[in-house]
Amino acid sequence: MNELITAIKDLKKKKNAIILAHYYQRGEIQDIADFVGDSLALAQWASKTDADIIVMCGVHFMAETAKLLSPTKKVLIPDPEAGCSLADSCPADAFKEFVDKHPDHTVISYVNTSAGVKAVTDIVVTSTNAKQIVESLPVDEKIIFGPDYNLGNYINSITGRNMVLWEGACHVHEQFSVERILELKKEYPNALLLAHPECKSVLLNLADFVGSTSALLKYSTNSEVQEFIVATESGIIHQMQKNCPTKLFIPAPPNDSTCACNECSFMRLNTIEKLYLCLKNESPEILVDPKIAIDAVKPIKKMLEISAELGL
Ligand code: 13P
Ligand code: SF4
Repeated sequence: MNELITAIKDLKKKKNAIILAHYYQRGEIQDIADFVGDSLALAQWASKTDADIIVMCGVHFMAETAKLLSPTKKVLIPDPEAGCSLADSCPADAFKEFVDKHPDHTVISYVNTSAGVKAVTDIVVTSTNAKQIVESLPVDEKIIFGPDYNLGNYINSITGRNMVLWEGACHVHEQFSVERILELKKEYPNALLLAHPECKSVLLNLADFVGSTSALLKYSTNSEVQEFIVATESGIIHQMQKNCPTKLFIPAPPNDSTCACNECSFMRLNTIEKLYLCLKNESPEILVDPKIAIDAVKPIKKMLEISAELGL
């Protein structure tokens, strides 16, 4: 392992490459990355780096977003099979039909989408900025929100909007067991329940704090409380524990006690070995059809502009 890490560092320097990693990556990948962040931060970094190569240790839509924002750079992903069940729940052609049925609506899409979906979108959002971006639009604006139903439903509930929702979901965040979480809460009465807004509303209603990965991390770091039940992909606990070594972070259990469904199987496809090979071979490379890219990049840039105005 140490040899691989040294080799990755050497290749990175030699090739003027940068490694970006999402909080759901394996701990050893987070530790070697130049930057670890949530979906918004990864897009922001990808848009401003002067590296020649961006290695996106995350899933396909994150690498695609980086390529759209930095089209002249080489964007690599350690495992090209690292997809996203939420993005897959929203095929571009079906989403376009949905959009066409609501001609007078502004289209807001979660960043967890393909470039094809982004190409028929007005503004992209992430879980960090969705509330503020929705609230930046006039109260009577008609809005379509896709593809995550739970996030859209949550944003409707906290903003009082009535966005039309696409019914997509993430298989990890839908799997948490409310029953088992309630049992944990009895066992750890002082623990706070932290939940990502991709979770179902029944769980969000029980949560002490709801937020994006970066918001959950910040909350747990700044809180006086010592124990937390964490209802999002368990990779985030790596950073939580690093920031607060003495606090207890308990991964929220999934419905099926025999599987590790609170781990995203796609995110976990990236390994240190694959990261080394991808830097060495400069492959697999992420490319986007230039005809789709022209429209797909616009709503991402719009998101970055609004986020900068809002100081996010
Ligand atoms: P954030 O990093 O924006 O919280 O999103 C989590 C996610 O679903 C990544 O796949
Ligand atoms: Fe997609 Fe869910 Fe995995 Fe995030 S955790 S990449 S939303 S499948």
